[in-house]
Amino acid sequence: MMSEPVSVQAAPDELAQGPSRGQAVTAPLASNGQGTPLVEASGLTKYFPIRPSLLARMLVRQQEKTVRAVDGVDLAIHSGETVGLVGESGCGKTTLGRMLTMLHTPTAGEIRFQGNPLVGQQVTVIGDDGRPRKVPYYHLTQIVFQNPYSSLNPRKTVREILSVPLRARGLKTTGEIEAEVQFLVERVGLNPRHVDRYPHQFSGGQRQRIGIARALAMRPRFIVADEPVSSLDVSIQAQVINLLEELQAEYNLTYLFIAHDLSVIYHISDRVAVMYLGHIVEEGTTDDLFATPHHPYTQALLAAVPVVEKSARRNRILLQGGVPSPIDPPPGCPFHPRCFAKKGSICEEQLPPFFQVGNQRVACWLYDDQPVSPTAASGDSERL
Ligand SMILES: Nc1ncnc2c1ncn2[C@@H]1O[C@H](COP(=O)(O)OP(=O)(O)OP(=O)(O)O)[C@@H](O)[C@H]1O
Ligand code: SF4
Ligand SMILES: [Mg+2]
Repeated sequence: MMSEPVSVQAAPDELAQGPSRGQAVTAPLASNGQGTPLVEASGLTKYFPIRPSLLARMLVRQQEKTVRAVDGVDLAIHSGETVGLVGESGCGKTTLGRMLTMLHTPTAGEIRFQGNPLVGQQVTVIGDDGRPRKVPYYHLTQIVFQNPYSSLNPRKTVREILSVPLRARGLKTTGEIEAEVQFLVERVGLNPRHVDRYPHQFSGGQRQRIGIARALAMRPRFIVADEPVSSLDVSIQAQVINLLEELQAEYNLTYLFIAHDLSVIYHISDRVAVMYLGHIVEEGTTDDLFATPHHPYTQALLAAVPVVEKSARRNRILLQGGVPSPIDPPPGCPFHPRCFAKKGSICEEQLPPFFQVGNQRVACWLYDDQPVSPTAASGDSERL
């Protein structure tokens, strides 16, 4: 077990050039009157090294490259809320979710839980008795994966799958474990008589319910739901989303809900963060952001949503080109090669900080007449 804080520094040449966004996204969240966030990421960064094969290195002298999957994200999520995370494929949503559950170790940045930094895989929390105690982070945070087909061990029965986290939670006797397995299976809407079945004996929706039960078994406080319904039929999607909402109310769960489908995000999220090429580019409450998207990328994203009612349709915004490679991201604003509203050379040269536009935070130079969002590090966030 590591004993150092999960606050790791990237080598200076690895870190993005230009002004840092600091803890800008953190600030508005502190402004919603809910006090200390449950989970808070500051400057969270994940770079994946890509090593070329020995042959490629010898013959064409190919160098090691770096995928900048997540590049300095600040995000704060308060107890009991659901933050929706949207963005095109490959923009870093899963990597961010995995870092927040420590399935990926960050290259740089810090994660805090209830204001306390992670030390190794442990964090100090205040117990029911009011005393601080150290607990493994995975007791507090869990993940529900996109693909219920591949995220469950095909060789284990439901009972075995659920017993693993229950033992890790400290349940010891067979009786205790069995009672909890029965409770969980029933709670997620499965037949308790099917606990000796294997994952392949269930439908996709049922398998996702097993995945949810497995996450719930640890009695976590925070769950990253990474596209939990995208591989399911629409009717089943609704059932699984309803289940997640019921469980949230019952157990005061906090969600980071990752999805491509904006209608799902609109339905389930209290707030939405929009991600592009490893950066969060806009953040606000769901109603504000859907009503008045400010960042050109958010505008394009929302304009692409099919709307049946003619009067409610937005003009389509067709973005030119594809998402740039995270191996060689553009300097300045990450969106500038595709931006239809580019302000000028500043867009190509400097990473925009977050500007406060109404209740939203927008990382775009178009709003540089608005105040820059103060960083949490400056202590200003408490004033907002
Ligand atoms: N283990 C890894 N090694 C190298 N590159 C990786 C690794 N995991 C992810 N990446 C790269 O990091 C970038 C972000 O990937 P990520 O899976 O986080 O995106 P995403 O937004 O979740 O995409 P999707 O919507 O398709 O699930 C991509 O370019 C991806 O290829
Ligand atoms: S900073 Fe410039 S390039 Fe980036 S979204 Fe705003 S206007 Fe477009
Ligand atoms: Mg993903």
